[in-house]
Amino acid sequence: MLGLYVHIPFCNNICYYCDFTKKIAKQKEKEKYINYLIKEIKLYQKYFADIETVYIGGGTPSSLNLSLLEKLLIVLPKKIKEFTIECNPEDINQEFLALLVKYNVNRISLGVQTFNNKLLKTINRKHTYQTTVKSVELIKKYQLNLNIDLIFGIPKQNLANIQFDLKTATALDVNHISYYCLILENKTVFSKMYKENKIELLEEELEASFYELIINFLKENGYLHYEISNFSKSGYQSIHNIKYWQNQEYIGVGNNASGYLNNKRYINKKLFADYYQSLDQDQLPIAEINKVSKKDSMYEYVMLGFRMLQIDMLDFEKRYQIDIFEAFTNLNELITDNFIEKEKNFLKLTNKGLLLNNELLIKLME
Ligand SMILES: C[S@@+](CC[C@H](N)C(=O)[O-])C[C@H]1O[C@@H](n2cnc3c(N)ncnc32)[C@H](O)[C@@H]1O
Ligand code: SF4
Repeated sequence: MLGLYVHIPFCNNICYYCDFTKKIAKQKEKEKYINYLIKEIKLYQKYFADIETVYIGGGTPSSLNLSLLEKLLIVLPKKIKEFTIECNPEDINQEFLALLVKYNVNRISLGVQTFNNKLLKTINRKHTYQTTVKSVELIKKYQLNLNIDLIFGIPKQNLANIQFDLKTATALDVNHISYYCLILENKTVFSKMYKENKIELLEEELEASFYELIINFLKENGYLHYEISNFSKSGYQSIHNIKYWQNQEYIGVGNNASGYLNNKRYINKKLFADYYQSLDQDQLPIAEINKVSKKDSMYEYVMLGFRMLQIDMLDFEKRYQIDIFEAFTNLNELITDNFIEKEKNFLKLTNKGLLLNNELLIKLME
């Protein structure tokens, strides 16, 4: 079964850390984009019966006004097992939620980032602690599944801030938490500020101690740690995101969206003009398409597998007809260096592997 990712490249406000494909746009521009997006979606109609998850992401899908959002929801596949939309807390209200329920959206991913009002200002978010709590309570009334995105490693964030975020999130009893480590991305306001010595990044050891606290606290509060940055109550893991991490196929629509279909990975055109031009000619707006070789697929399997904290060696062998230690001779070194350990037919990340996941992946590529 397939996933469908739908990209909405608009935000009402740009956060200082974010390098996702997005811009602030006028209503006319949004309308034009949605019209073209619908055209692209229709080109994939023959796959609709195979789609079991939909994920509308961005940018900020909740920045679309209700009539434009409805125009999009109408054309998306129906009877979907997990249907997620990314939202910003300040956009949540009764009319918006009623519209989602009408079109069987059953999961919201809310960009909370932190519950600390001062840190929210540091990253240029427009909501506050109060807005978030109100939004979460309203979402619960509509019985939608809820993920909240949180970030650790924000300049000046301290251990007490993390404890407060963890306590608030668990007290709100959300069933899924994505907890990302702040990455200083090129071409963001933060990267400019960093070059001009206007912000200081946190020490790596401090970030590692935050991450350890997050893992332990959430485990003690009944959350499963099922992916490097993702925690959920039992039964609430994201079916759509697991498709990415288990190397399964999905369709991506929208500018700069990526997809993996019929054994090929593709990425869509990023510039609006190029994206529109392809669709004007009734062609898929694909910029690049690559067949995934067996070797690439094995790499992806292992890299993504370690994001999900463990690899089933028997499944690997069944899929690729080769022993995993034969395919990746440097796995033994990772065991000796205590990044991973063998347990029955699984290769599992150790605590060191969890905290130094990037280093592990670099070693694996060597
Ligand atoms: C596409 S954005 C979310 C959509 C929505 N506009 C929002 O802000 O919630 C997905 C998530 O990625 C995370 N993110 C974006 N840029 C990041 C960065 N540089 N470092 C860490 N996390 C980041 C944020 O937690 C954000 O909520
Ligand atoms: S984090 Fe979300 S709201 Fe902020 S700029 Fe990125 S996509 Fe837009």
